[in-house]
Amino acid sequence: MSINEVDRGYHRPAPGTQPEHLHPAYVSSVKRAPTKPLVTIPQTITEITGPRFSSKDIGPPITDLTRQHQQAPLGERIIVAGRVLDDEARPVPHTLVELWQANAAGRYLHPQDQHDAPLDPNFTGFGCALTDDQARYRFVTIRPGCYPWRNHNNAWRPAHIHFSLFGPAFATRLVTQMYFPGDPLLASDPIFNCTADESARQRLIAHFDWDSTIPETALGYRFDIILRGRDQTPVEHRD
Ligand SMILES: [Fe+2]
Repeated sequence: MSINEVDRGYHRPAPGTQPEHLHPAYVSSVKRAPTKPLVTIPQTITEITGPRFSSKDIGPPITDLTRQHQQAPLGERIIVAGRVLDDEARPVPHTLVELWQANAAGRYLHPQDQHDAPLDPNFTGFGCALTDDQARYRFVTIRPGCYPWRNHNNAWRPAHIHFSLFGPAFATRLVTQMYFPGDPLLASDPIFNCTADESARQRLIAHFDWDSTIPETALGYRFDIILRGRDQTPVEHRD
């Protein structure tokens, strides 16, 4: 790809559609938020390009998290599927999607997670794949449990799945969380609520999806992920 093809730069996020750096209800943000105004830097070749991952780089995709061990993990089996689009609804094919999550009891397979809940020997909680030609991805997993955290008294995170995407450039890098519809913990979750824009927050919640639900096997959830897009050359209109 030539520089000329990409030098139009990527859209800046609309105000309120990204988490505030300082959101006092999310206690960790108080110490790490910048104390001085941010400096907007121009988008150069460093920002408008990025690594491209192929199947050779990532090895065999891990799309079924329920078949990584000798037995099936405990929990409610679910399908999580969707498309990766840019903010002009253009598909982003062949891009790396990674996810990680707690098990059905709300515990991560990680040494720092000492939450008093059982590990599941049949669940690792990590998946990765490239989107297909039409920018689709699909994972089979189990619904993660809610877990306590020490942000405030009696704090519990809503059930969520972490996602990481690169897209075509460092400017499109996205690390986010997917939530489940109807979760009563969303209303009091400081991480979910540190994005001011209501419609932007709603984009973090998956939709229950009959079309991907498999009878007697798994409920389906649709979660489309939107990356920053580039300004597109307008179509020429002739009178
Ligand atoms: Fe988490």
